[in-house]
Amino acid sequence: MKKEIVSFELTTFESLEALSDEDKNLMLKAVEARENAYAPYSSFLVGAAVLMADGMVVIGSNQENASYPSGLCAERVAVFQAGALYPNGTIKAIAISATSKNYTVSTPAAPCGNCRQSISEYEVRQQKAIPILMMGAKGIVLKCGAVGDLLPLAFNNSFLK
Ligand code: THU
Repeated sequence: MKKEIVSFELTTFESLEALSDEDKNLMLKAVEARENAYAPYSSFLVGAAVLMADGMVVIGSNQENASYPSGLCAERVAVFQAGALYPNGTIKAIAISATSKNYTVSTPAAPCGNCRQSISEYEVRQQKAIPILMMGAKGIVLKCGAVGDLLPLAFNNSFLK
């Protein structure tokens, strides 16, 4: 028998101002994208911004549906759009910001499990880590170095032979 501890590095920044210019600008794009979220059912507004290696930024926001499961999270709207627009592109980083129409979210919103899996597909495909930046509407910003950190033991294409 063998027991292992699986851990990862998570960096906390006191605020948006503590980020590098590149990360801050990306997070500001996520904040901007959040404003166009379509969330009449949850009132929870999420924006995501995907930075491509060539500097292009692709944004997404959550898009809800009267048939609830038909809606899609901001992260997947953004990452699928990035994949569609730049099929051979490399994703450099993703920023996520969330708030609510009912209260100000001051805790970073981490991507849901489905979004982690979807982003992981691109990380595996490009063979390069995708750092994730997470923020509420204000307050601390969390950064992890790779989506794989948030999804240990992920299912991936290595099983599909
Ligand atoms: N949501 C996201 O857009 N991203 C996440 O990672 C978590 C949840 C959205 C989905 C739904 O529209 C609303 O937030 C409430 O769950």
